[in-house]
Amino acid sequence: MKAYKIAVIAGDGIGPEVISEGRKVLEGISALDGTFRPEFEEFPWGCEYYLKTGRMMEEGGLEKLKAFDAIYLGAVGYPGVPDHISLSGLLLEIRRGFDEYINLRPVKLLKGAPCPLKDVAQEDIDMIVVRENSEGEYANVGARLYPGTPQEMALQTGVFSRKGCERVIRYAYELAKREKKTLTSISKGNALGYSMVFWDEIFREVGKEYPEVETSSLMVDAASMFFVKDPGRFQVVVTSNLFGDILTDLGAAIAGGMGLAAGANLNPERTFPSMFEPIHGSAPDIAGKGLANPLAAIWSASQMLDFLGHEDWGRRLIEAIETLLVEKKTLTPDLGGTAKTGEISDAILEILRR
Ligand code: NAD
Ligand code: IPM
Ligand code: MN
Repeated sequence: MKAYKIAVIAGDGIGPEVISEGRKVLEGISALDGTFRPEFEEFPWGCEYYLKTGRMMEEGGLEKLKAFDAIYLGAVGYPGVPDHISLSGLLLEIRRGFDEYINLRPVKLLKGAPCPLKDVAQEDIDMIVVRENSEGEYANVGARLYPGTPQEMALQTGVFSRKGCERVIRYAYELAKREKKTLTSISKGNALGYSMVFWDEIFREVGKEYPEVETSSLMVDAASMFFVKDPGRFQVVVTSNLFGDILTDLGAAIAGGMGLAAGANLNPERTFPSMFEPIHGSAPDIAGKGLANPLAAIWSASQMLDFLGHEDWGRRLIEAIETLLVEKKTLTPDLGGTAKTGEISDAILEILRR
């Protein structure tokens, strides 16, 4: 029996509600499989912790997390703590500190999931977005100058290093090659003449090593339009940190909503633990009411299973989500159902046991 040490940071708002469901699914799968077992350890970090201690995570928190095989995170951020403080002190701290430079976000319309687009076939929405996750527009470099004066200004600098761009672009090429898919780079070289021109150059340079991968390069404005008008043109997508953030909420919207969008923050070298999370936030508008859809958190548990080497269970879990969506018996209100958050894990496990 192989044990995996999983650090749980359920966080704020609907975070604890959806993570609890994901945990039950992982435990249920482990019982079915019998060869591996998740050992969860909870860390009570988040906005409430901040209000009590003045910190989003305890001192030396990253050091503690290092010992884990994976991190399972719910959501961070809540009214009462400024977002730039809460996110910078926890979620972004982990992504940067653990060099989780790949953010893998599937945008796949499962059978039975609602889609607001007309004239689009279910199979046409099936892409994987590879988002740069360690630098770029999120590098946290800048300044506030002359506060309180008419000259007041804010500077926010993007950081695009050769190493940083190359490694995420290479990861995307490798993925496209392995899966025999096309690769689209999304950038904005026409306006951002330093950073994005550099990105585009590196995309072409690395591409010379992958003649078998069919590529295209789009501006982010046009790409957003095509996400809606012609999503079928995208298979593997590689893009910068901020563009990837925005495009994957758009991706969520066309592929069943925020309740179905998952993401994996990967440190591919496995020097540090990788982190798995739904891409949605703490949804204060519905928190504490049992209304949150935990399927995004459950999908991210499937990404965790893949990463830990249990791809067969990862795939079966996605299929179980699909069956749940097709049968429409146990769905949360965002998907048109009346089920509570806490009923979803049992329904998924019942499908897996069939
Ligand atoms: P959000 O994703 O929390 O919510 C956007 C909308 O989607 C809301 O109407 C919400 O009710 C709905 N929604 C989100 N997840 C849902 C789910 N699982 N089921 C059903 N409906 C769902 O985004 P926001 O409102 O911009 O942000 C709220 C807070 O979360 C902010 O503090 C923000 O900074 C933070 N945030 C955190 C993360 C993260 O931890 N990864 C991600 C995004 C936002
Ligand atoms: C996400 C979130 C975060 C991001 C925020 C909360 C900092 O929106 O994971 O998509 O922008 O990366
Ligand atoms: Mn986001």
